[in-house]
Amino acid sequence: MHRLFFVIFLFFMGTVGYAQPHEKQLPPDQPSIPYKASEMPDRILMSITDSLAQTRTITWRTSKVVQTGTLEWSDKITQIDFYRDANRANARSERFVTYTGDTVYYHTATLRMLKPGENYVYRVGEGDMWSEWIDFSMPTDNDAFRFIYMGDAQNDIRSLWSRVFRKAYAALPTAEFVVHVGDLINHSQNEYEWAEWFHAGGFMFAAKPQLAVRGNHEYVKDENGVKQYSTPSWRHQFRYPSNGPSSLANGAYFIDIKNCRFVFMDSNDALDVQGHWLEQVLKRNTKKWIIVVCHHPVVSATEGRINSGVMAHWKPLFDKYNVDLVLQGHDHVYARGRIPDAEGNRRGPTHVISVAGRKAYAVGNHPWMEVKMGSTQTYQLVEMSHEAIIFKTYALDGQVYDTFRIVKRGGKPVVESN
Ligand SMILES: [Fe+2]
Repeated sequence: MHRLFFVIFLFFMGTVGYAQPHEKQLPPDQPSIPYKASEMPDRILMSITDSLAQTRTITWRTSKVVQTGTLEWSDKITQIDFYRDANRANARSERFVTYTGDTVYYHTATLRMLKPGENYVYRVGEGDMWSEWIDFSMPTDNDAFRFIYMGDAQNDIRSLWSRVFRKAYAALPTAEFVVHVGDLINHSQNEYEWAEWFHAGGFMFAAKPQLAVRGNHEYVKDENGVKQYSTPSWRHQFRYPSNGPSSLANGAYFIDIKNCRFVFMDSNDALDVQGHWLEQVLKRNTKKWIIVVCHHPVVSATEGRINSGVMAHWKPLFDKYNVDLVLQGHDHVYARGRIPDAEGNRRGPTHVISVAGRKAYAVGNHPWMEVKMGSTQTYQLVEMSHEAIIFKTYALDGQVYDTFRIVKRGGKPVVESN
């Protein structure tokens, strides 16, 4: 009998309960901000599940006491009592047990048929527990738009990354959305770190779509530090179009935004599967511009960190289909450039690596790096139009540290200094 229990114990430990001491999934002894869910909605995040032009998807969290959710919204934003006849949408609510054993609910609601250039206001909640009313605006019909690109956040998220995100938002409050290139947190299932990330983003996460890809730190690792699977937190917190490979739901997807096709990829897993999918996505593209977002760089900006899978499976497609810009993270430095061919000519997409958080690695020295910078937290503002992509990198003093312009000639990207 004892032996039977022992076998069951070993089976249990082997399948669901293996220890992850190196991942530090437990909150610190004295967390400086609350991380437990309550009846009041928190972690409110806006995303896009199909069209930037017409829909917005909102997710939020409550404790297990609140098992349903409602989203109220209105377009009568200048009327002082607009909330009296607000529209209502029911949320889809899912139970989630965190790594630390807390049962919470994540709620998701999608607003559809929103109009170009229109202003809206919404709140989420249930019963007597509601968020504040949150304003947002839909993009206008013209070609131009702007967005924010953030490198890895990952460490000291509340104390030091929040500065960068808030500066970026203040510098470009009219940005249509924010791109996050992964490693939002350091330990994939650590609820305290996720609490810091949502705290740092605050109402800005609720007011603009946050389009993210997974970094290596969004993966659960085994006791040897080997990646096993994407953190269960991801699919509850981030809802994206289901147009990617089915094994990478919410992790690989594309969104057409005005004159640009944005392809978001998970550089941790199934690179070959995503390569086949990417080729179809790029082959069928009818948009002028193509921007790819992924965590691991095609070419590294540090020494000794080579991502051969990305290089083998994706780079040839980026070149063949005239991708304009590849936005990446992972190396914790800033670098920008185009990869020279055998004759030394710089062709193909512009590769950018950036870091928003505190962690800094030594900058490498590789031929592709036309601009490089270490130990500097940056944010990037990107201006899109029919004529050009104008890219600017800012440090925390608000000064431009790098800028360039991409135009298209004969269907191929050409870089001009700005
Ligand atoms: Fe990182």
